[in-house]
Amino acid sequence: MDTSSRIEEGAAALKALARAAGLRPWTLGERELVPVVQGGMGIGVSAGGLAGTVAAEGAVGTISCVDLRRLHPDLMEQTQALEGESAKPLIDAANLVALGREIAKARQLSAGRGLLAVNVMRAVSEYEHYVRHALDCGIDAVVVGAGLPLDLPELARDYPKAALIPILSDARGVQLVVRKWEKKGRLPDAVVIEHPGLAGGHLGAAKVADVHDKRFDFDVVLPETLAFLRSVGLEGRIALIAAGGVTSLDDIRRLQDLGAAAVQVGTAFAVTTEGDAAPEFKRVLAEARPEDLVEFTSVAGLPARAVRTPWLEKYLRLQPRLQAHAHVKPHCTMWFDCLAHCGLRDGNAAWGQFCIDKVLGHAAAGHIDRGLFFRGAGALPFGSAIRSVHELMQWLLGGVRPPDLGQGAAA
Ligand SMILES: Cc1cc2nc3c(=O)[nH]c(=O)nc-3n(C[C@H](O)[C@H](O)[C@H](O)COP(=O)(O)O)c2cc1C
Repeated sequence: MDTSSRIEEGAAALKALARAAGLRPWTLGERELVPVVQGGMGIGVSAGGLAGTVAAEGAVGTISCVDLRRLHPDLMEQTQALEGESAKPLIDAANLVALGREIAKARQLSAGRGLLAVNVMRAVSEYEHYVRHALDCGIDAVVVGAGLPLDLPELARDYPKAALIPILSDARGVQLVVRKWEKKGRLPDAVVIEHPGLAGGHLGAAKVADVHDKRFDFDVVLPETLAFLRSVGLEGRIALIAAGGVTSLDDIRRLQDLGAAAVQVGTAFAVTTEGDAAPEFKRVLAEARPEDLVEFTSVAGLPARAVRTPWLEKYLRLQPRLQAHAHVKPHCTMWFDCLAHCGLRDGNAAWGQFCIDKVLGHAAAGHIDRGLFFRGAGALPFGSAIRSVHELMQWLLGGVRPPDLGQGAAA
C-alpha cells in the first residue's frame, strides 16, 4: 500500500473510532471532520508540517502566520541583519513568501483531507496582509485571536467559501462579533471559545487577575453562547469550538454534551513528533509541571501563560524596574514592528517590556536559556513523552493508549 492510501485508511479508521466512542463529527467548509482542531501556535510552533499532518487525519490543522521566515534559512539569511526604514517591507515580504511555502507544504501533506486554517493575531501589524495572502493562497479557513476581528468580513469579501473563525472567551464577545458581522452580511462559520484559565499563549481576559474567573468556565460560556444564538435564530449555524485544557476523550465528550461541535488543542500538538518547533522546545513544554507555569502581562498588553524558564524568571524579577523606566523607543528592536501596539517600543509601562518576536523565536529554535515558552495549564496526555500526531488523535478520539507508553502517562 502506498503512503497516501495508508494515510487515507488511517483517517477513515480514526473517524470510525470517534463514532464508536460516541463523538459527533462536525462540518466546516462543507467538509465532515473529526471533532478536533489543532490550534495555531506561533512563532513557528504550528507551521505547514504540523498543520498538514493533522489535516491528513481528517481534522483541522492550523498554521500560525507570525514571522514564519524563521523556519526558512534562505529568507532569514536575506533579512535577519536588516536595519533601518527599509527593513520592515523586506521582512514583511519574506514572511508572506514563507506563509505561502508553509500553506503549500501543508496542502501537500494533507492531500485534500481534513481542513487547513491559518491563525492570525489581530494584534500583529501585518494582520491584514497575512489574512489576504492566506486567502489568495487558497486557505480553507482563517482563525483570528488576540483582538476583535470586526473587519474580517471585508477582508474576506472575495472569498465567500473561506470559513471565518474568531477566537473569543465569553458570550458577550460572541454577541458583539455576530451582531457587527451580521450587518456586513456574513456570519462566523465557527467560534473558538478559549478558556483563559487553561489555554497557552495570549489569553482572552482583560488582566492577569481575571484569567481564572468562573465566568470563563465552559459550563457557563457554552450554554450562554448557545442561548444567545438561539435567541437570534442562529442555532446550529455557528459551530462552537472549546479550547484550553482538553487532553482526553472524556473532555471531548463532556464539551460536546455542553454544546461544543469540536475542541481545539494546542500544547499537546506542539509537543508531537511532527510539531514544527525544535526538540528542545517540546522538551521544555512536556517536562513542565503545573507549578512551573506562570501568568504575566505580555508586550501585547494581554495576559499570557508560559513555562517559568530561567529567562522568564529573570525577566519577571526585573519587570518592575523595566516598567518604571519604560519609554518610547526610536524604533522596534527587530525593525519590523511585529505588533501594532508594543509595550516595549511604545513605552507602555503597564505592559510587558521584552521583544516578543525575539524570545518566541529563540524558544521555537530550542534556546532554553533565552526563549519564552508558551504553554497551556493542563497535564499532557502522554506525560513528558514526545509521540506522533496519529497517536495523539487515537488517544483523543478513541481513548487508545500507545501500547509501548510507560505507566503514568495518558491517565
Ligand atoms: C506555544 C503556544 C503558542 C500559541 N500561539 C498562539 C497564537 O499564535 N495564536 C493563537 O490564537 N493562539 C495561540 N496559542 C493558543 C492555542 O492555539 C490553543 O488555543 C491553546 O493553547 C489551547 O489550550 P491547550 O494548550 O491547553 O490545548 C498558543 C499556544 C501555545 C501552547
